[in-house]
Formats: sequence, structure tokens, C-alpha cells
Amino acid sequence: MAGSRVASVAELVENQATRVVVDGVPIAIVKDSAGDIHAIGDTCTHGEISLAEGFIEGETLECWAHGSQFSLLTGKPLNLPAYEPVPVFQVEVIDGDVYIDPTVTKEIH
Ligand code: FES
Repeated sequence: MAGSRVASVAELVENQATRVVVDGVPIAIVKDSAGDIHAIGDTCTHGEISLAEGFIEGETLECWAHGSQFSLLTGKPLNLPAYEPVPVFQVEVIDGDVYIDPTVTKEIH
């Protein structure tokens, strides 16, 4: 089950977040410098801020409002004020297109 096509790999700019809405779920997609694609919940858990408008540093996406950095791998904030994680979605790349099913989140341990 591939979910919905949200972008092509080619149109995603490295280290820049893109906001998409899939079935009503806002998602921030990031292609990191290794070319890996990550998808996490776009809404900061501290306020109604789109994380895709923030800054990427390494494997984190930083909320521009108050500076919490969310791990692209686990969805967890690495610093306050946010303390609740955002969901991490499974990403599938098929023939150069990116697919996300917003009902499928990764299991984080
Ligand atoms: S709204 Fe994101 S850290 Fe405050």
C-alpha cells in the first residue's frame, strides 16, 4: 500500500522542508543531504506553527517560533519548550515519486 503521491524526489530541494497535506494531515517532507527523505507531522506540538517554515540542521527540523528542534528520525523534540513528539510517517519512493500514507507512522523505540 503506497499511500498518496506527494512529490517527485527531483522537485524536493535538499535541506529544505516542504509542507503537504495528505487526507487532511499536514506533513513536512525533508530531503536530507544524504538524499534520504523524511516525513514528520508539520504542526509543532508547542503551538500552531508549521514546522516546514522552520530550519533544517542535520537531522532536525527547528520550529522558528521558539526554537524546539524535532528529530526527523524519531519526531521527538530535542529541546524545550516543545516536549511532545510529532508523528513520523513512512515514506515510499517508487519510480522517483514520493508516496506517504498518513495513517502509517513509523514505530519509534
Ligand atoms: S510553537 Fe514551536 S516551539 Fe513554540
